[in-house]
Amino acid sequence: MTASRGKFSSRFGFIMAAAGSAVGLGNIWGFPTQAASNGGGAFLLVYLVLAFCLAYPALMAELIIGRHAHANAVEALRSVSRGPISRFSGGVTGIVGLIVASFILSFYAIVSGWMMAFCVSSILVLSGFETIAAWFVESSLPRNVFFMGLFMLITVVIISQGVKNGIEYWSRRLMPLLIVTLLLLVVYVLSLEGAGQGLELYLLPDFSRITSPSLIISALGSAFFSLSLGVGTMLIYGSYISDEENLPIVGGYVTLVDISVAVLAGFLIIPAMFVAQHNGIEIFTETGALISEDTLIFTVLPALFQSMGFTGVVVSLVFFFLMSIAAVTSSISMLEVPVAYAIENHQVSRNKAVWAIGGLITCVSTAILYDFETLFGLVVELTTRYSQPLLGFMMCIFAGWVWQRDNLLQELQKGNPSAEAGLFWAIWPWYTRIVCPLIIATIFYTSLAA
Ligand code: TRP
Repeated sequence: MTASRGKFSSRFGFIMAAAGSAVGLGNIWGFPTQAASNGGGAFLLVYLVLAFCLAYPALMAELIIGRHAHANAVEALRSVSRGPISRFSGGVTGIVGLIVASFILSFYAIVSGWMMAFCVSSILVLSGFETIAAWFVESSLPRNVFFMGLFMLITVVIISQGVKNGIEYWSRRLMPLLIVTLLLLVVYVLSLEGAGQGLELYLLPDFSRITSPSLIISALGSAFFSLSLGVGTMLIYGSYISDEENLPIVGGYVTLVDISVAVLAGFLIIPAMFVAQHNGIEIFTETGALISEDTLIFTVLPALFQSMGFTGVVVSLVFFFLMSIAAVTSSISMLEVPVAYAIENHQVSRNKAVWAIGGLITCVSTAILYDFETLFGLVVELTTRYSQPLLGFMMCIFAGWVWQRDNLLQELQKGNPSAEAGLFWAIWPWYTRIVCPLIIATIFYTSLAA
């Protein structure tokens, strides 16, 4: 099996692909919206702490187990197990993970479809078809179903051709471009009137909110979502890394890139909200809650682009194009989870697996669109807020309790012969064994009890 499995060709390629999976709507749509509705600075602070102290260790658990097993999550978790009970739990964790990954893709494709619709609309404006362009930025069932379907089709086609070449090729070229565009937009938005108020909200934490259980669990969910954790995505990507790589370092780069992009996006979106408000667009209700959270950035950003005149149309095109690409490099990493399982454990051909699973997910997305008000928020919440951290908890249990310490060390030593003397080995094993599961469990307990 190992011989037929692909591998990333270089360290940069892997980092860009894993970062491509990590960086996506979670950073630019999810994180800023969550931050804005949870008090800005307080959310940012808790998010940063949780991302470094919980998400990074959990990411490492997935990468290490994945590279060791060179298999999908179900197989990998079973293979590190030592008895029938842990083997069974490993299988269950893997399967629940792939179901959650599929549901995540079902709402992800909807939002990604919006990104593509806005991109197409900018192209039409540039070509002089302004009236038709308006249809693409107005939410309607036909538009939403069409673009969700188109997005799923793109994801399916890429995944059916095998991951490595496609993912690596695109990620390493377009990711850097996205970061530069974001940076330029941040500089622009900060020069506008009203932006200061947003900056203040984002950077000055209201410390009284930091202990709010609902803020903490949202931040935890955001961190796990943003780093693609729990469902086996990173485990699979880990299984494609070459043995020479020093895992803690590569994992560290991925985490840093991901968190930086989220924080950077916050510098764009939150000030942009206040600029929009300054220009008369309603952002908050009278009680101070955000109006239409899910579609917030689709109100705020177009308003910002409009303020730039003609340049704004070009910027809008570039921005929504890059967002669509960022979404694709993430969605392929989700679809690869159930697909790899079907191929490796049920001997289905890649093509069949991709089309069947992709088709099923498209049906689920369509159902969500039909009853958007009820289903969309529900699916987002169940998958990202609850399932992901719980599955991350299981990954820590597997890395910390089930798997043998010697094997763990051996795996790390493959890429770094002196790993035993390093800081990572001094901290991470007991930390993932005790601290991570304890904190995740405590956050859960308090949020459910509250
Ligand atoms: N992390 C990606 C983002 O921020 C989304 C993503 C990709 C994901 N693969 C995942 C989320 C697996 C959860 C699980 O947009």
